[in-house]
Amino acid sequence: MEFVAAADEYDRFMGRYTRTLAPALVEAAGVRDGMRVLDVGCGPGGLTGALADRVGEERVAAIDPAPQFAAACRQRHPAADVRDGAAEQLPWPDGTFDATLSCLVIGFMADPDRGVREMRRVTRGGGTVAACMWDIAEGGMTMLNTFWGAARRIDASLTGEEHRAGVTRGDIAHRFRRAGLEDVEDGELEASADYAGFDDFWEPFTFAVGPAGQHLATLSPERRELVREACRAALPDGPFSLTARAWFARGSAPA
Ligand SMILES: C[S@@+](CC[C@H](N)C(=O)[O-])C[C@H]1O[C@@H](n2cnc3c(N)ncnc32)[C@H](O)[C@@H]1O
Repeated sequence: MEFVAAADEYDRFMGRYTRTLAPALVEAAGVRDGMRVLDVGCGPGGLTGALADRVGEERVAAIDPAPQFAAACRQRHPAADVRDGAAEQLPWPDGTFDATLSCLVIGFMADPDRGVREMRRVTRGGGTVAACMWDIAEGGMTMLNTFWGAARRIDASLTGEEHRAGVTRGDIAHRFRRAGLEDVEDGELEASADYAGFDDFWEPFTFAVGPAGQHLATLSPERRELVREACRAALPDGPFSLTARAWFARGSAPA
């Protein structure tokens, strides 16, 4: 899926969750000082920054097909090797990295299984491949669950994001095993975001950053307002925080 929104719009919509999700992914993947690491689908660089905090920016590479995101990541992390490109065709030789990570990307790849195979290929034997995607199927990502629940009150037949790769329990681990990764383990990661109030929650949906905002943009102004009101009714008044659960898996590249 193509992301055309500006980096600062992404920050306000989803980047606010990456701030807590990315360090949890780095920890769960077992990234340690001295490793050379890759961030696949880096967006504006939330995970890139968390990896840089752990191993140093010059040991981090990153890639994203959205040119405005890759440019923002490059600007924010000037010592990292940031490239324009897609997971399905990574521009690094076999076995380049000790760990290859991907945060909230598998579900947006044109060919997720090919993307995972490429992540495996660029990881040295015994190195780690790890990824996470939001829990859409069981509603653990509160922000998106609130939005799609409101949108379905207006149109019960709506397909949300539940068809995407990685959004059901165990799916990432299944794909990892199918790609030949070994010792695959899976689990959950917790993230959260703070909102100053309802407007701070709603406005980023109008930026059309991801599938939810892009769906909203297809609705008439009257239907948009109905979705907005249904979201407002589901959320507290005043400042609030929302939790978000992501499915996670890690595996080892075969020797
Ligand atoms: C939800 S954002 C996640 C960005 C970042 N990893 C984060 O956690 O904030 C999804 C990202 O996947 C990228 N993407 C979409 N298709 C991709 C592909 N085939 N290969 C790599 N990245 C892709 C998008 O451009 C976007 O930056």
